[in-house]
Amino acid sequence: MCGIVGYVGSLDARTIVLDGLKKLEYRGYDSSGIALRCNNDFKIFKDKGRIAHLCEITDYSFKTNMGIAHTRWATHGMVNYENSHPHISNNKRFILVHNGIIENYRKLKIDYLSDYSFYSETDSEVIVNLIEFYSKKMSAEQAIRKAMSMLEGSYALLILDKENMDTIYCVKNKTPLNIGVSNDGITIASDIIAFPSNVNKFLSLDDQRFAIIKNNNVKIFDLMGFEVEANYKELKLDEYSISKGNYEHYMLKEIEEQPDVIRRIITKYFDNENVLIDKNLIEAIKNSDKINFVACGTSLYASFMGKYFFEKLCGIPTECFIASELVYSNPLMTKKPIFIFVSQSGETLDCITVMKKYKDLGYKIVSITNSVESTMAYFSDFILDICANTEVSVASTKSYTASIAVMSILAKAVSNQKTNLKNNLNRVSLVIENIIQDLKPLIKDMASKIKDSNAIFYIGRGIDYWACDEGALKLKEISYINTESYSSGELKHGTIALIEKGTPVIAIVTQEGTNSIVRSNLEEAISRGAKGYVISLESLAYSKDDIIIPNVAHYLTPLVSVVVCQMLAYYVALYKNNDIDRPKNLAKSVTVE
Ligand code: AGP
Ligand code: GLU
Repeated sequence: MCGIVGYVGSLDARTIVLDGLKKLEYRGYDSSGIALRCNNDFKIFKDKGRIAHLCEITDYSFKTNMGIAHTRWATHGMVNYENSHPHISNNKRFILVHNGIIENYRKLKIDYLSDYSFYSETDSEVIVNLIEFYSKKMSAEQAIRKAMSMLEGSYALLILDKENMDTIYCVKNKTPLNIGVSNDGITIASDIIAFPSNVNKFLSLDDQRFAIIKNNNVKIFDLMGFEVEANYKELKLDEYSISKGNYEHYMLKEIEEQPDVIRRIITKYFDNENVLIDKNLIEAIKNSDKINFVACGTSLYASFMGKYFFEKLCGIPTECFIASELVYSNPLMTKKPIFIFVSQSGETLDCITVMKKYKDLGYKIVSITNSVESTMAYFSDFILDICANTEVSVASTKSYTASIAVMSILAKAVSNQKTNLKNNLNRVSLVIENIIQDLKPLIKDMASKIKDSNAIFYIGRGIDYWACDEGALKLKEISYINTESYSSGELKHGTIALIEKGTPVIAIVTQEGTNSIVRSNLEEAISRGAKGYVISLESLAYSKDDIIIPNVAHYLTPLVSVVVCQMLAYYVALYKNNDIDRPKNLAKSVTVE
């Protein structure tokens, strides 16, 4: 969930880890902390609040070439000073930052640490004391490995030891941890975007691995203590994608990048009219009797469009599963299913857990992801890159449209049908540009009208309903207005009771077959006091509609209607003065269950 960064080398560790932490802040930001080497001791600064606050409370008066830091997204215990990381062991020998969840921490505490005092409510403080407990009988290295063998759950850990002042210990299971090398030192980070710009190669630690970083040298071991090979990869980071450019918020920058992302996808996956996708993947899907999409949040809503494409174009029955539900359920499987996971980050733990489960059962696994170096990509038989470049804003935007565009191309390749998809996607990118340039004033106007509402409803049918789901999620996440998405026909079966005078009900109307019925459903809500708004496609528009989107192919309309929804959410949140890129209670990648 959170972010962790460590550094040891010849430069000022404080600057490197704090800069890295700032780049990770979007992952979790309720509290933060840092431990820095100061001569033969470590100094700790931590508190609840953002990295900017940590920068204020950190002491800059001493020289330091080694440090570890943490930005937290609380899973165990309140957001307060005591629960902030780093945590320190009772005898003050070990200091630790932890990303993840220890499932058996209560049992470990009772069974082994009954004599220990605990100052926080976190699972993390149990780990640091368990290491101390074993260090009394063995070396630090052995104690860490022993503790690791007892932990159940997910953890990326950076550990400092006052008896080994020149060493950073790194431990990894189920949550990502990367080690980057530059000519001045070694940086460790939960996401490679936190590396300083001069890191030129890096490795991603595998699960249940333990690394020792000392004297500008990295050694990696398995749980038994056997050294394993360090496989480095070259680091290529797109600097523009991780900077805000001239934008006030990443979210707006990422919304406005969507035309380019669609064009990048076209360039990658089309050679003239031919689709460039691994033939083995196409065969694997053709040979399957059912496609199971698995995803969470925005990626789940994008998957519903995947279902639509595969059923319409390829005639393959397709189902979309909420990853966190599939972890604990065992739905009936057909004889030859294939699993397609959709994930921007490729690190969503709910997805990874399901992926491992079905991979172990021998099923073929496909990932549609923005992170081709991620854990999910690693476990997949086939990977499709959505080419969106880093998405920093916690509220996903470009990864939704990019995933759908890639799914449409995959479905076309499997169906072998002659469609005008390439031109139609090109048209989508132009229309998104048009929405951004020409429709912005209308969207802003609508945002100013709905910004003070207590509740908002999105309604639509068919694929418009899937776009409504994503539109409602965007408004919820950043405006904090209770926004629900309903199939417009369902409204009258109960939810219409919630309509009060002035409640905004926004209808998305882009499908010919359902145009008039959705409009009638909107009228029903208006008759009960709702303030109706319509987002429609030009070919179906009534002149009084609020937002009229230029035409695109009927099966791609969510790619454009959603952009209106994204911008609407953005401006509502802007007018409410909310922290748009870092909405409350959320984190960018959800690497806990
Ligand atoms: C979207 O705005 C979210 N913040 C969230 O729902 C996200 O889509 C979800 O957590 C899945 O993430 P992933 O695509 O990285 O797997
Ligand atoms: N479980 C730990 C805590 O609640 C770590 C959470 C995180 O990954 O930020 O402090």
